[in-house]
Amino acid sequence: MSAIPEAARLVHVPLDDRAYDVHIGPGLLARSGALVGPLLHRPRVAILTDETVAARHLGALTTGLTAAGIDSTSLALPAGEATKSWAQLTRTVEWMLSERIERRDVLIALGGGVIGDLGGFAAAVLRRGIRFVQIPTSLLAQVDSSVGGKTGINTSHGKNLVGAFHQPSLVLADTDVLATLTPRDFLAGYGEVVKYGLLGDADFFAWLEANGPAMAAGDTAARVEAVARSVQMKADIVVRDETEQGDRALLNLGHTFGHALESATGYSDRLLHGEGVAIGCALAFDLSARLGLCAQEEPSRVRAHLADMGMKARLSDIPGDLPDADALLDLMGQDKKVIDGQLRFILARGIGNSFVTSDVPRELVRDLLATSLADRIPA
Ligand code: GLY
Repeated sequence: MSAIPEAARLVHVPLDDRAYDVHIGPGLLARSGALVGPLLHRPRVAILTDETVAARHLGALTTGLTAAGIDSTSLALPAGEATKSWAQLTRTVEWMLSERIERRDVLIALGGGVIGDLGGFAAAVLRRGIRFVQIPTSLLAQVDSSVGGKTGINTSHGKNLVGAFHQPSLVLADTDVLATLTPRDFLAGYGEVVKYGLLGDADFFAWLEANGPAMAAGDTAARVEAVARSVQMKADIVVRDETEQGDRALLNLGHTFGHALESATGYSDRLLHGEGVAIGCALAFDLSARLGLCAQEEPSRVRAHLADMGMKARLSDIPGDLPDADALLDLMGQDKKVIDGQLRFILARGIGNSFVTSDVPRELVRDLLATSLADRIPA
């Protein structure tokens, strides 16, 4: 529990008959029964989690549910990206059926992005769709993957290639649970927070420059504010473009570069997703500056903030060897955003002013990567 009680914040996602609330603040696990109860037709829920999160937070969740008279059954899967698989999807669905989870029941996904994505997809297909509640326990999941209804699993052909848009019925982002993250995992999630300032809110980026270090150090009010502003931005974009026909692609700022870097490092501990996004954001600003879209100072300001936060900001911060510029370009060509063979980039006219384009000469991207690999980008 937080030492300093802070009022929880509420972001409403107004998606017609799929509208839902996102509660953000400390102490929400303890209040889970009161918050989830109104969704239930009978006082019983299924909880999907992973073994690491279960050891830390499942007890607090079930205590919160029991306080409101809600019974629960839970399944804890192995922690890690490998769990987003057909095998674990089958296991989850079969488990819910064996637990007699009915069409009107609710699944709670308690965990990071892996559990949220897998649980959401299992909920989307069980009995042709049951409702689910996201209780995200990583910063990345709180500000990104728990909101917006993207669910799915990975296959041997790539990440997130099988899934469904299935919106949660409620999201509880308990900021107290962020205290159990390692500093590295916290900062990886912070990569997605910075992304919001960069893509659409210069004032938020300036706020992060001033408050990011306090937030990382554990300041509860700063954490609530940063998560709430990020979720509000995501909600606004999702409401404009739920199924990513246009504007939602802005949320992929930094991801075209980031996914190629994750792939080049074998999705290993060498580079976490949010770290790849942060470096990718800096590269997207480099590319924008090279195209004359924004001032040369903008990428430097992005990198200065990442460095202030103790984050990876350039390719040379990634341990070990990287493939050459052509190989990285090829990896970028496998991005889901490629349309008719054309790479799509999120570029910026300045901090807080991004847009989607396919109009980027391949040679320019190759040169940028080659220069960055040689670490000749001025700080
Ligand atoms: N994580 C990007 C999106 O939800 O669209």
